[in-house]
Amino acid sequence: MAFLADSLARIKPSATLVATEKARVLKAEGKDIIGLGAGEPDFDTPENIRNAAKAAIDRGDTRYTAVDGTPALKAAIVAKFKRENGLTYVANQITVGTGGKQVLFNALLATVNPGDEVIIPAPYWVSYPDIVLLAGGTPVFVTGAMANGFKLMPDALEKAITPKTKWLILNSPSNPSGAAYAESELKALTDVLVRHPHVWILTDDMYEHLTYDNFMFTTPAQVEPSLYDRTLTMNGVSKAYCMTGWRIGYAAGPVHLIKAMATIQSQSTSNPSSISQAAAVEALNGPQDFIPKHNQSFKARRDLVVKMLNEAKGLHCPKPEGAFYVYPSCAGTIGKTTRSGKKIANDLDFCTALLEDEGVAVVHGEAFGLAPHFRISYATSTEQLTEACKRIQRFCAGLV
Ligand SMILES: Cc1ncc(COP(=O)(O)O)c(C=O)c1O
Repeated sequence: MAFLADSLARIKPSATLVATEKARVLKAEGKDIIGLGAGEPDFDTPENIRNAAKAAIDRGDTRYTAVDGTPALKAAIVAKFKRENGLTYVANQITVGTGGKQVLFNALLATVNPGDEVIIPAPYWVSYPDIVLLAGGTPVFVTGAMANGFKLMPDALEKAITPKTKWLILNSPSNPSGAAYAESELKALTDVLVRHPHVWILTDDMYEHLTYDNFMFTTPAQVEPSLYDRTLTMNGVSKAYCMTGWRIGYAAGPVHLIKAMATIQSQSTSNPSSISQAAAVEALNGPQDFIPKHNQSFKARRDLVVKMLNEAKGLHCPKPEGAFYVYPSCAGTIGKTTRSGKKIANDLDFCTALLEDEGVAVVHGEAFGLAPHFRISYATSTEQLTEACKRIQRFCAGLV
């Protein structure tokens, strides 16, 4: 009898975490590695947020809290949805988990039965399909074309919906493509969903604050209020507030779903860290002025990386609206051979050879459901990015 559960055979380790770890090990061995794999800002958590955490420790906020979030944090989240998204919620429509990832996990585990389908636009964040599979559901991928900015098109959504569809997962701005849906684009999708009342919308707004060129962020429940009762709006402090290690994510939705998610969390991790919750209250209620400052840096870095990648032989890099990723195509390098004699048959070969020959760590597109591409996280210094892009250009120039 097999020792490991059958469910484990359905899933694999997160490709982005694997790539990040590989780069870390090579670096620790003394190799000259530039890691562009990790999806986290290089900025420190702002000081006021760090101070709030220290004060929480000194105040004795060091005990169990309510399973799915303290009243103070839920109040801050209610205020955030009102202020930034025009959405009205009350405290028992809010859930807080150990990162956005746990919130997604709770939602899918609480709702997906074997045979249920979950529509996932590709390219997608690596964890969506695996969480669906772990829950016993069937991911249904709808691939976005690079020519459409990798976005889900309304007719493709319509075609993917079946009587078994439980959720559509939407992620804007997107990890890995950086694509963000304009209000009109979102409305075209919500118009389809209005016609299919059995389909729920799980919107992952984790990168809400990271948009450039005056992009106006909107979220499905705001664009189409009639979907409010079947939308779970997920967000978190990890990316915008530079708090990836603090592990706080949250969501708002119908009371019965929020309750079910708390039941799952009550039998797994219980409450997220009490100290991190206190810090998240300050993040949401405190000054927000560092966000546009960070975004100025991110925008400059995006523009630099897009320009330099488009100068590399065999690469094509669209300019995305948000997040801190670009998702270039390496189709023009497939079938070629590196200076060191390695054959590039697919995007994994491209990324492996790039790491081995030039010390640049990126994540291959197949892991995000659209090949041949790769993802670069540009949340690192301009110097590092310039050097990495020079190496990529040299690597591509050497392909024959
Ligand atoms: C699209 C998307 N959703 C959710 C998450 C999870 O965020 P957290 O670190 O808060 O669990 C990430 C993190 O990489 C992400 O990119």
